[in-house]
Amino acid sequence: MEKRKISILGSTGSIGTQALEVIEKLQDKFEIIALSGGSNIELLTEQAEKFKPKYLCIGNSNKKVNIDGIKTLYGSEGLDEICSNKENDIILVAVSGKIGLRPTLKAIENKIQIALANKETLVMAGDIVMKKAKGNGVNILPVDSEHSAIHQCIKDISQIDKLIITASGGPFLHKSVDDMKNATVKEALAHPRWHMGKKITVDSATLMNKGLEIIEAHHLFNMPYEKIDVVVHPQSIVHSAIEYTDGSVIAQLGLPSMHIPIQYAITYPNRYEGIKTKSFSFSEIARLDFEKPDFEKFPSINMAYNAGKIGGSMTVCLNAANEEAVMAFLAGKINLYEIYRITEKMLEHHKLIQSPSIDEIFEIDNEIRIKTKELIK
Ligand SMILES: NC(=O)c1ccc[n+]([C@@H]2O[C@H](COP(=O)([O-])OP(=O)(O)OC[C@H]3O[C@@H](n4cnc5c(N)ncnc54)[C@H](OP(=O)(O)O)[C@@H]3O)[C@@H](O)[C@H]2O)c1
Repeated sequence: MEKRKISILGSTGSIGTQALEVIEKLQDKFEIIALSGGSNIELLTEQAEKFKPKYLCIGNSNKKVNIDGIKTLYGSEGLDEICSNKENDIILVAVSGKIGLRPTLKAIENKIQIALANKETLVMAGDIVMKKAKGNGVNILPVDSEHSAIHQCIKDISQIDKLIITASGGPFLHKSVDDMKNATVKEALAHPRWHMGKKITVDSATLMNKGLEIIEAHHLFNMPYEKIDVVVHPQSIVHSAIEYTDGSVIAQLGLPSMHIPIQYAITYPNRYEGIKTKSFSFSEIARLDFEKPDFEKFPSINMAYNAGKIGGSMTVCLNAANEEAVMAFLAGKINLYEIYRITEKMLEHHKLIQSPSIDEIFEIDNEIRIKTKELIK
C-alpha cells in the first residue's frame, strides 16, 4: 500500500507529539510532508531531524531554523502554503486556538482530508467549514476522543435519536464553588485523566471544554442541540455513545489514551495495532460510574447550549471571551470562577450577526477579545 502523505499543524503540542508517536509506530504507512510549531523551536528542530519532512513552519517568525533539505516557512502564510500543497493526503490540524481555522479552510478548498483536533475551528465557523467540506468531498475526521467515539459508533446517521457525550468532570467534579474560586493555576491544571495543553486543561476544569464539544458535535454530526446529552463519567472509559431510534445504545470504550482517536483519524478507515500497549479488561476496570452534570456549579454547559442554539456569531463570542478569560486566569489576573462571569457578560452584550462570513468571524473574534481584555482590567 502506498504511504499516506501527512502534514501536522501543531506538531510540538500535546496532540502533535502523540501523533508523531503513532506515526513512528506506523512508519511504513506514512510520509510526512510538513511539521509546524509555534515557539518551541528546539522540539520542532528535533522532530524535523528525526522525521525529515519537506517543509517546516514556524509560528514565530523571529526564530530561524536552517536544516539541509527542508524548506522553512513562517506564520499563517506558511500554514496556508502547507494546506495548499496537494501532495498531502491528510492534514492533522492540532494547533490550539483560532489559528486553526484558516488553514483548515485552505486544506478543504484543496480537497485534502482533515483530521481535526482544533475544536475552535468548528465552534467559530462550523456552518461554513462543514458546508465547504461537503461541497469539496472532504472528510472532517474527529480527533477529540468523544467525537471519535461517536464517529466509530455511527452506522446510519438518519436513525440516531441522541448523542451522549461523556465528561470526566475534571479536577473540581466533587469540589465546591469556593474551592474553584480559590483554585491555583496548578490545581486547575491537575487533570485527573488527561495530560493536555494548558488552555484545554483549564477548559476541562470549568467544563467549558464539554460546552465547546457540544457545539463541535452539533456541526460534525449535523445533530440538533436538543439531541445532544452530556453525562459525567469520571473513569473516562466510555468515550461517548449514541442512542438509536429503537432505544439501542452503542458506546465506544477504551483505556483513556489520545493515541487511539488520533490514530483512527489519520488511518481511517483502516485500523492497526499501532501504539496499543495494553489489552482492555472489563474485570480490571470493575466499575463504571455515571452522573448528571451539575449545571449550576458548571454554568459553561448551558452557556454553550444557549450560544449554540442562537448560532451565528454567538459561538464566536463564546469562544473568544472564554479563551481570553482562560489566558487571564493562567496569568493570575482572575480566579477560575470569574471565567464564567466574564464569558457570560460578553455573551449578554453581544450583538448577534446571524450568518457571518469568514472575514466577519475574524473581525468579531478580534473585537470580542479586545472587549474581554477591557472587562478583565
Ligand atoms: N490535548 C488533548 O488531549 C486534546 C484533545 C482533544 C482536542 N484537543 C484540541 O487540539 C488542539 C491542540 O491541543 P493541545 O492540547 O495539543 O495544545 P498544545 O499542547 O498547547 O499545542 C498547541 C500547538 O499549537 C502550536 N501553536 C500555538 N500557537 C501557535 C501559533 N500562533 N502559530 C503556530 N502554531 C502555534 C503550538 O506550538 P508551540 O508549542 O511550539 O508554541 C503547539 O504545537 C486544541 O484545539 C485542543 O482543543 C486537544
